[in-house]
Amino acid sequence: MKKIEIKISGKPVSAQAGETIIHALWAVGKGDLVKTGCAGGVCGACTVTIRYADGKTGGTELACMKPVEEGMAIFPCPVEPDKAVEPVLNPDALTLQSVFPTVNRCTKCGSCTTACPMSIPVMDSVLRMQQGSFDEVAEDFTTCIHCGLCRFVCEDKVKPHNMGLWIRRSLGKSHEVLAVSSEDSENIEKEWQHLMVEDKQERLQRAKDFRETGGVSA
Ligand code: SF4
Ligand code: SF4
Ligand code: FES
Repeated sequence: MKKIEIKISGKPVSAQAGETIIHALWAVGKGDLVKTGCAGGVCGACTVTIRYADGKTGGTELACMKPVEEGMAIFPCPVEPDKAVEPVLNPDALTLQSVFPTVNRCTKCGSCTTACPMSIPVMDSVLRMQQGSFDEVAEDFTTCIHCGLCRFVCEDKVKPHNMGLWIRRSLGKSHEVLAVSSEDSENIEKEWQHLMVEDKQERLQRAKDFRETGGVSA
């Protein structure tokens, strides 16, 4: 395999063309430079920002999925973990403001939306949080991987994803728990099998269709 050189936080690291950023770091004993969790593209713990050799920015990527390229400069995101806030029953805009006063600091700069690797309309969702449109917020954050980038880029320390998570947990806590009949169990199993296809694009499309229609068509 061809040897190339990449840079991590400005320091040169030798790598093999085609391997992922995280594998390149592991190979030279520098795995601690980027945080990792699942190592399979799911948890978002390894999020980094990229700049290519020609100076073009590559946005945010997952170090466990992104193959290295000659001259690539990699910057780990220093997002520190934040303490989770206890969810509440029947949350509304006022409760949100009392536990997250940061919600009203948003200056609508749009940086969080630009940074989000999951294409979540983060800024619009913060505005929905201010209005108490929590069902829509819960929908917005369905695909959030909690990489924390929206918090990292926010100059006003608004903490969008912490609020999105709190809203989802609070709505979940407020839902009446219904007894599941055997017929329901069968349907749930059928839906699960339908949604968990191997192909990633197909999986995302089916999840999107499912959210829009509330059921499976095939
Ligand atoms: S980055 Fe912060 S201030 Fe800017 S739109 Fe997002 S939440 Fe609002
Ligand atoms: S934490 Fe923020 S940036 Fe990361 S996926 Fe969730 S909404 Fe997007
Ligand atoms: S380590 Fe989980 S997405 Fe990379």
